[in-house]
Amino acid sequence: MTRKLAPGTLVIASHNEGKVREITALLGPYGIEPVSAASLDLPEPEETGTSFIDNADLKARAAADLSGMVALADDSGLCVDALGNRPGIFSARWALAEDAHVPADDDAGHIEGDRDFGRAMRRVQTELEALGPEVSRNAHFVCALALVWPDGHSEWFEGRVDGSLVWPPRGANGFGYDAMFVPEGETRTFGEMAPDEKHAISHRADAFRKLVAAALT
Ligand code: IMP
Repeated sequence: MTRKLAPGTLVIASHNEGKVREITALLGPYGIEPVSAASLDLPEPEETGTSFIDNADLKARAAADLSGMVALADDSGLCVDALGNRPGIFSARWALAEDAHVPADDDAGHIEGDRDFGRAMRRVQTELEALGPEVSRNAHFVCALALVWPDGHSEWFEGRVDGSLVWPPRGANGFGYDAMFVPEGETRTFGEMAPDEKHAISHRADAFRKLVAAALT
């Protein structure tokens, strides 16, 4: 039996403002009042796990231990079939420059802080090209959510959306790898869709539907 989330305060174990906003909106109707780990000055633990669930759990566990409140964390990424599901948990890290990197012209619009997703998308494309013209371009996004209580109990939920990768990237909406990902049954990339359209079918929406069904209703 899934442990239910009682109305009250919950820490969102993320320093990403966009994620905190999205999660706050999703939980508002259930009497949950989220506060962010950043507003409590909680440190960000290193993501040393070997799966999305591991990383979500370790982020939520650190926040629950330090705050004494229930904590929620998410970890997500892009898994490419032909690349053995890489970049996977390394999705954000593929966008970090290893050296002083001068963004290419077509990276405009794909820079997020110190991360360059033009570079990350090009690496995916380059690795696929190296496997030959017949290579599968199937991929999926995964979102893992971990809820951890101060007594150590945890509940995990995983969502996914399947699709395929196009090149060159298309569309300026969304973030990360959105501009090269076309969800199954669609012709447009996530980057070409309005945010509401993406949010209705995304891996994050899938994971949250599972969390709400199990822990909030
Ligand atoms: P996290 O903050 O460690 O969970 O990193 C997630 C990374 O996965 C992001 O920085 C993106 O690179 C990628 N990612 C996750 N979800 C999406 C999405 O919905 N669209 C595009 N990229 C995503």
